[in-house]
Amino acid sequence: MPEKINNQRRTILLGTAAISAGILPAVASAAEPLKVGLIVPMSGPFASTGRQIEAAVKLYMQQNGASVAGRQIEVILKDDGGVAPDVTKRLAQELVARDKVQVLAGFGLTPLAFAAAPVATQAKVPMIVMAAATSVIPQRSPFIVRTGFTLAQVTAPMAQWAAKNKIKSVVTFVSDYGPGLDAEKVFVKGFTEGGGKVIDSLRVPLRNPDYAPFLARVKDAKPDALFVFVPSGEGAAVLKQFTERGLAAAGIRLICTGDVLDDDLMDSIGPAAIGVVSSHHYSAAHPSAENKAYVEAFGKANKGMRPNFHSVGAYDGMHLLYQALKQTNGDSSGEKLLAAMKGMAWTSVRGPVSIDAASRDIVQTVYIRKVEARGGSFYNVEFDQVDKVRDPGV
Ligand code: PHB
Repeated sequence: MPEKINNQRRTILLGTAAISAGILPAVASAAEPLKVGLIVPMSGPFASTGRQIEAAVKLYMQQNGASVAGRQIEVILKDDGGVAPDVTKRLAQELVARDKVQVLAGFGLTPLAFAAAPVATQAKVPMIVMAAATSVIPQRSPFIVRTGFTLAQVTAPMAQWAAKNKIKSVVTFVSDYGPGLDAEKVFVKGFTEGGGKVIDSLRVPLRNPDYAPFLARVKDAKPDALFVFVPSGEGAAVLKQFTERGLAAAGIRLICTGDVLDDDLMDSIGPAAIGVVSSHHYSAAHPSAENKAYVEAFGKANKGMRPNFHSVGAYDGMHLLYQALKQTNGDSSGEKLLAAMKGMAWTSVRGPVSIDAASRDIVQTVYIRKVEARGGSFYNVEFDQVDKVRDPGV
C-alpha cells in the first residue's frame, strides 16, 4: 500500500551539520562525503526492525565518528514500509541515481532484499544486508554482504539440541516464505538425522496471520514439542495463543529460533516465555564486556530501549563498512570495498564473527538459550553454544 508509507527522507548527521549545511567549506578533506542509502521498514508491521537498525547505526556513528579514512559518512534513511518489494526497489534506484549513494544497507525482510539486489549489481555498489535472513540472498548479487544471520544457520543447532534432549516428536510451524521454508527444511533434516520424528509441518501466512486454526491442529497432533519460526515482531502473538489455547497446559513444549523471543518484545511476551528454549546468534543478555557496554549505551541513547538481533546486524554492518573504508584508504569503489569486506573478522557484541570470503555470508557462534526472569524483566540466557557456524545452505 504505497500511499500508506511514510516515505520520509531523513539524513543522519552527527556533528557534521555545519559542513552539510554549506556553512563551512569541507576543506579538511577534499574527498566527497560517502553516502549510504539505508532502506528499512520504519512504518507498518515490521517497524520495530527499522527502529532498531536506525538506533544502532546512529550509535555506531556517535561512538566511532562520522568520518572515516577522510570520508564524511552521510546516511540517508528511507522507510520502505516493510511489505512491498516494488517500493524497496524504487527507493534503491532513486538512492543510486538521484542521491548518488555508494553503499546500500538495511533490508528488513527477504522479499525486499531480493528486490534491491539487481540494483546493487547494476550500480556496482555494496549492499549490506543487515536483517533479511534467507540463505540464498547473497547469491542474488555479487555486491551483497550479510552481517545479520541466516535461519538455516541458527536452526541447525536447535534441531540437534532437541534430538539430544529427550524430544522425540515435533510439529514444525513457520511463516510461509523464504526464511520460514529454510528453517523448516533444516529443522526436519537435523532432527530426523538425530533420531527424532517430525509428525507435521505447518506453514502460516506472513500477512495478517490467524494462528488459531494451526495451533488447534498442533494440539490434536500432541507432539512432544512445537518448533516455531515467525519473523521479528510476530512472536508475542504466537506465544500468547500458544498459552491461551492450552498447548502448554497439554504438555507440549515450545522450542523456536530467537526471532520469536525478540529482545525488543520480551516485555510484551512476559511470563509466558519462561523456560522456553531457543537458538540464536544474539541475546541482550550475552555475558561479554562488549555486549554489556553496547546494551547500556543503546538504552541510554534510546529511552531505555533494549537492543535486539537486528540492531546488532546493523551495528556490525557499519563496523564492516568503516573497516573496509580504512583498508581502501577511503576509496569507495564497489569492487574495492567488497574485496576488503571479504574475509574480515572482528569481535562483535554477539561474539566472534567473520565474513566468509566465498559466500559473503557471516560466520558466527550460535547459542542455545532459555528464558529466565531477571530484574523484573525476561531474558534469553545462553547456556550452550556452537562456534563458527556457517550458513549450511538449503
Ligand atoms: C526475513 O524476512 O528474511 C526475516 C525477517 C525477520 C526475521 C527473520 C527473517 O526475524
